Amino acid sequence: MTTKPLVAVVMGSRSDWDVMENTSRTLDSLKVAHEVRILSAHRTPAALIEFMQEAEAAGVQVFIAAAGGAAHLAGVVAGHTTKPVLGVPMESKLDGLDSLLSTVQMPAGVPVGTLAVGKAGAVNAAILAAQILGLGSEEIAAAVVANRQLRAEAVLAEGDPRGG
Ligand code: RP5
Repeated sequence: MTTKPLVAVVMGSRSDWDVMENTSRTLDSLKVAHEVRILSAHRTPAALIEFMQEAEAAGVQVFIAAAGGAAHLAGVVAGHTTKPVLGVPMESKLDGLDSLLSTVQMPAGVPVGTLAVGKAGAVNAAILAAQILGLGSEEIAAAVVANRQLRAEAVLAEGDPRGG
């Protein structure tokens, strides 16, 4: 794994971390160096932009942004970079539907690749980031293939769910 972060993971609140820890763990398992920050489109707008500029200058290639409720974080991140941005809607008071729609309904021209609500989206954002990076890195591409194989083996090892 390189020490230079290739992915930046941002989330709107500390309360998102329990879910977004799955993104960080999955990136670790795929040997993708990354940085993680709590930054909000609404609560810390200036600090978010400053971080975006620093991350781009430092060589970050993919951004992952997670937020809940009025989830504008991924959209704002996408508005400040032409690197790929992956959005993870957090579960919320409206079961994540508000977060999902706020993240996915971007205007034409400024895409956010939006993943599933919650843990599945958090894991898949990491894998999709690795797939993007894997286009230019044999090491990361191989880690993605190995991850997929492990998941298949885990399913097949389940056997008959009735046990015995
Ligand atoms: C969003 O508001 C965050 O991403 C979080 O999902 C949600 C609630 O934040 P807290 O009130 O828990 O800090 O900005």
